Amino acid sequence: MPRIVRHEAMQPYRIEPQDFPKDKPIFICACGVSKNLPYCDGTHKECRTEEPDKLYEYGPDGRQIVDDS
Ligand code: FES
Repeated sequence: MPRIVRHEAMQPYRIEPQDFPKDKPIFICACGVSKNLPYCDGTHKECRTEEPDKLYEYGPDGRQIVDDS
């Protein structure tokens, strides 16, 4: 079943090594557009050009504006 989830974050959550058993920080996607969830793959950079008064949809065909009111 498809669903719409609203994300407003423009960068990942950073988890420090002391909080997770790894030797370097890991980055968890907070923007919702990563193709490697739950990890950040850098795709959040596309969100930086979003305009605050518009609603965007990200899908297989890329980004579309679905409401620009
Ligand atoms: S925070 Fe989502 S891709 Fe980086």
